[in-house]
Amino acid sequence: MSIKQVGVIGCGVMGAGIVQLCAQNGYQVIVSDVSQAFLDKGLASLNSSLNKAVEKGKITSELMDSTLKRIRGTINMVDLHDCDLIIEAATENIAAKKAIFGNLAKIDHDDMILATNTSCLSIIDIAKATNRPERVLGMHFFNPVPVMALVEVVPTLMTSPDIIQQVQTFGTSLGKTVIMVKDAPGFIVNRLMIPYLLSAIRLVENGVANKDEIDTAMKLGGNHPIGPLALTDLIGLDVVNFIAIACYEELKDPQFITPVLVKKMISAGWLGRKTGKGFYEYK
Ligand SMILES: NC(=O)c1ccc[n+]([C@@H]2O[C@H](COP(=O)([O-])OP(=O)(O)OC[C@H]3O[C@@H](n4cnc5c(N)ncnc54)[C@H](O)[C@@H]3O)[C@@H](O)[C@H]2O)c1
Repeated sequence: MSIKQVGVIGCGVMGAGIVQLCAQNGYQVIVSDVSQAFLDKGLASLNSSLNKAVEKGKITSELMDSTLKRIRGTINMVDLHDCDLIIEAATENIAAKKAIFGNLAKIDHDDMILATNTSCLSIIDIAKATNRPERVLGMHFFNPVPVMALVEVVPTLMTSPDIIQQVQTFGTSLGKTVIMVKDAPGFIVNRLMIPYLLSAIRLVENGVANKDEIDTAMKLGGNHPIGPLALTDLIGLDVVNFIAIACYEELKDPQFITPVLVKKMISAGWLGRKTGKGFYEYK
């Protein structure tokens, strides 16, 4: 079976990026969210991302038009019933994801592949919420999805080899480098990156240096394209916090304990770029 139509659940930061990437590469895409307001917000950011890509000369206006024609939005997940592959990119919360995968039984068909873009949750636990765990695996994209070259493909102990093969081929067809990784907390990138981000936040919290100094230090001294605090804002403080908590729960490694400053910023609603304020302010 070849994948032609892709369903994306959740049209937030990642969902909108995944929709754009798939449609830009010729797939028909249908995206669902919980309300028209969330859907509209995600589709507006997708539009603006495509416009920027045209302005920068990265894609043609013809490709932008054909990409938009391949995208449909819905607030009724049942509309995803014809899809060959579903990529779930809803909020990082195990109960919410299990509920979504449980509900997929209503539209599931024999050839449907179910992937989750979870950053760190146990894929097998999500897979067991369905009636066909052998067709479930992780497909972990990076932000911003159209730009970042990597996708981590995360089979569980139960994923069938045929499904793994199809998803590897699909990831490559999107122009991504596919890395295979076991269903372990944080996979590769977050397992290494989250302790680094939390350490940078602890330096701010302890007054060792300010955010600009830390980000500049890592850009110039570490040759990183973006500093850790700007990166935390890009990922979203709520997402970083969820990943840290999930990894800590499984590993009990103190490197994953969230600094108090993160909890206070989340309470203040300073989640990073998506709310216009995090460590930095965004227009
Ligand atoms: N932000 C990142 O840098 C990043 C990177 C890789 C993976 N992820 C993962 O991607 C997923 C989404 O993260 P995000 O940053 O896009 O979050 P987000 O908060 O920007 O978007 C989540 C979206 O999912 C929607 N949603 C929630 N429940 C839903 C449901 N039942 N059905 C349909 N839509 C639903 C929300 O309304 C929202 O629009 C998470 O699992 C996260 O861990 C995030």
